[in-house]
Amino acid sequence: MSALNNIRKPVETEMAQFEVYFGHTMKSDIPLLKIILNYIFRRKGKQMRPLLVFLTARLNGAVTESTYVAATFIELLHTASLVHDDVVDDAGERRGALSVNALWNSKIAVLAGDYMLSRGMLISVQKKSYDMLEIVSEAVRKMSEGELLQLQKARKHYITETDYLRIIHSKTGALIAACTACGACSATDNADTVRLMKEFGENTGIAFQIRDDLLDYENTGLSGKPPCNDIKERKITLPLIYALARAPYLKRHRIVRIVKSRKKTASEISEVVRFVSEYGGLEYAAQRMNQYRDMALAALDTYPESEVKTSLKEFVCYTTERRK
Ligand code: IPE
Ligand code: IPE
Ligand code: MG
Ligand code: MG
Repeated sequence: MSALNNIRKPVETEMAQFEVYFGHTMKSDIPLLKIILNYIFRRKGKQMRPLLVFLTARLNGAVTESTYVAATFIELLHTASLVHDDVVDDAGERRGALSVNALWNSKIAVLAGDYMLSRGMLISVQKKSYDMLEIVSEAVRKMSEGELLQLQKARKHYITETDYLRIIHSKTGALIAACTACGACSATDNADTVRLMKEFGENTGIAFQIRDDLLDYENTGLSGKPPCNDIKERKITLPLIYALARAPYLKRHRIVRIVKSRKKTASEISEVVRFVSEYGGLEYAAQRMNQYRDMALAALDTYPESEVKTSLKEFVCYTTERRK
């Protein structure tokens, strides 16, 4: 985490203040909800999204009250989406602990996620941050579309790189683009700047998700999530898409059959992992990821050198190098 600590330096006070705001929203009088919210709050993630909101605000001017609103809203929404995502992906671990659906159950996880989402929307309405509300609501719509498209493609067991990019653009790129757009929007009225920052976020988000999909294959024990869950859940991501496209017919047929089956043995899962690596899927995905990283970095070129710009560059690189 030390890389992130360095990146956080220019906005350390803002991040500390954010933590207080975020903590206030994770409260409820309903005893069960109170326990769940507390459980989630104590297992913090990397908080990369609020960090990105503050850094892009600073890059384009100064942090304002609406920057805090956006950071809090987005982190609430992100947390809600993870709680829901673990239901959809049937994942039992998150942030190195049991997921909400595993510790309680799926019904409770769905409702707790809804609660966090509505808290987020309420803050932006109360603070009259309507432009933020619009940017983030649009991201929520795209995220739901992305997750549904992913499910639809998983049923068909056939997915192209174009489908994949569309999915990750929606499910992950949209929210990270909302971070950079809201950050910029809270500091400047210049529409071109907001557009540039949105594109910067989209490319960063796509690189971020390709890295996440690679981490699923790496099994370092550091991710805090169940290893190889994508294969278990029949999710075909870029490393596998590429390997399948290169494999001879019979081999491809065998691997698709394994991935398609609902119950897989440990040795079948290792076979898929070996296959992906033998056919160069990991290298190819890393190469594509780095292209998105470079497109993101290029968006920063027009800005003069500053401590904040350096942090943002490191943020983008961290996105593609992270091990958790
Ligand atoms: C996980 O996001 C979900 C993806 C979009 C891959 P993070 O890796 O930012 O999750 P936390 O908040 O740090 O746990
Ligand atoms: C990202 O997809 C999830 C969301 C955008 C909510 P994943 O399913 O790959 O995320 P992880 O790996 O569970 O964090
Ligand atoms: Mg998941
Ligand atoms: Mg994942």
